[in-house]
Amino acid sequence: MPNNFEMQSPLHVGIIMDGNGRWALARGLPRQAGHRAGVETVSRAVEAAPSLGIGALTLFAFSSDNWRRPQSEVGGLMALLAEYMERETPRAVENGIRLQALGRRDRLDAQLRAAIGRAEAATAGGARLWLRIAVDYSGRDASLAAARTLLDLSRESLDRALGPPVDLLIRTGGERRLSDFLLWESAYAELVFSRRMWPDFGADDLAGAVREFRGRERRFGAVPRTPAPAAAGWLD
Ligand code: FPP
Repeated sequence: MPNNFEMQSPLHVGIIMDGNGRWALARGLPRQAGHRAGVETVSRAVEAAPSLGIGALTLFAFSSDNWRRPQSEVGGLMALLAEYMERETPRAVENGIRLQALGRRDRLDAQLRAAIGRAEAATAGGARLWLRIAVDYSGRDASLAAARTLLDLSRESLDRALGPPVDLLIRTGGERRLSDFLLWESAYAELVFSRRMWPDFGADDLAGAVREFRGRERRFGAVPRTPAPAAAGWLD
């Protein structure tokens, strides 16, 4: 018997996984320990996603601007990503998860590129969850690159070239910005900001964000079905 979430059309959820560094600092640990703990959170989110009605999950793992971080941190993140791809591929095949990387590949090291290639090939048939990991990704660059491939440039052709629109965009770590993530695709995304640091973000937090999304009225520019009184303050 499907639950209430599964009866609705599958959601595309994007997550800006912020707060690994601060999580580690608060515990007197190196930043890499925060990123490592963040990988565990990724596994929990991926496991919980299908039962929450999420059909596509796009995770911001490394932005094109993150190359500005110290070389040691960049190297640590790349190693974690390669390790994740290698380790999770068999589990993804078993669980019907299609793994894909989003972003530039030409600046990634050969080991990570190869791990991505193997993961994508092995999991291409996965139909339960489409897991997209954004690495060396910039929303502006992705839009430009997609536009350059199109002879007939229109909203619809760019929509198709970029991928599914985002329904729900979550950012953890207390900051409230988009940081060049899925800009075109998030035109009508519902935004949810959590103060939790990414390593502390549990399956129940993801469920809470989806619940918040389900409670919102998406109008896409039209008038509200049930007009609400004006909010008291201008900021929550
Ligand atoms: C932002 O937190 C987080 C990142 C730049 C890296 C996110 C990477 C992971 C969660 C691990 C690898 C991911 C996968 C999919 C295997 P921050 O370091 O900027 O935190 P801060 O704002 O507290 O310093």
